[in-house]
Amino acid sequence: MKNNIIAIDGHSSCGKSTLAKRLAAHFGFRYIDTGAMYRAVTHFALENKLIDSEKIDISKLKNLIENNALVIDFQYNSETGRSETLLNGENIENEIRSSHTSDFVSRIATLDFVRTYLVKQQQLMGKDGKLVMDGRDITTVVFPNADVKIFLTASIEVRAERRYKELIAKGEVISFDEVRDNLALRDHIDSTRDVTPLTIAPDAVVLDNSNLTVDGTFKKALEIIKR
Ligand code: DC
Repeated sequence: MKNNIIAIDGHSSCGKSTLAKRLAAHFGFRYIDTGAMYRAVTHFALENKLIDSEKIDISKLKNLIENNALVIDFQYNSETGRSETLLNGENIENEIRSSHTSDFVSRIATLDFVRTYLVKQQQLMGKDGKLVMDGRDITTVVFPNADVKIFLTASIEVRAERRYKELIAKGEVISFDEVRDNLALRDHIDSTRDVTPLTIAPDAVVLDNSNLTVDGTFKKALEIIKR
């Protein structure tokens, strides 16, 4: 590999972060979950009452971001083996994974000033390479020159089933239909937004894991990387 960057994009809940983490461990690279960064901004907006089901207080959020009121970091937790998200030093890993945050995050991700701010940070994180990054615009905007570009996807039914099981295991009270509808809505917003919508980079390899296990997905990704 030349710049030691593996970029992974794809639909919500298709196992991007699971794959990215395995690849990072395999190659000894750092893993950055950019969805967590959009979720952190959403959590911040919710906590500060800058967003509700009707509207977003765009000028206030923009002002706070421009004045560095949001510092997003990742911290490795040796007990769980996970890299956890910090917002202004506070661990918000559990909060940003809730369905409440998921309901609002796509709207926050449509805001150009949020994207500009986060893309800049992501590019800085990758300046020395040795990185696996996943998201929606990593292969197209953040690292268009990445050594490896993978577009991961799976059918909506399979993705909804995986996400539903995860949420139920965490004790959330939610129906399968609600999970599937939220995913379908996020797919729609992510792929149709004006600012850098989710698209397949012309030189990305599409990997559909609807019928693959976690191990099977990892093996296929390694084959793609070797190629
Ligand atoms: O991967 P995820 O489900 O945690 O992402 C949360 C939201 O953030 C999702 O609606 C897409 C958006 N996102 C984005 O627009 N660009 C990225 N690089 C990563 C996530």
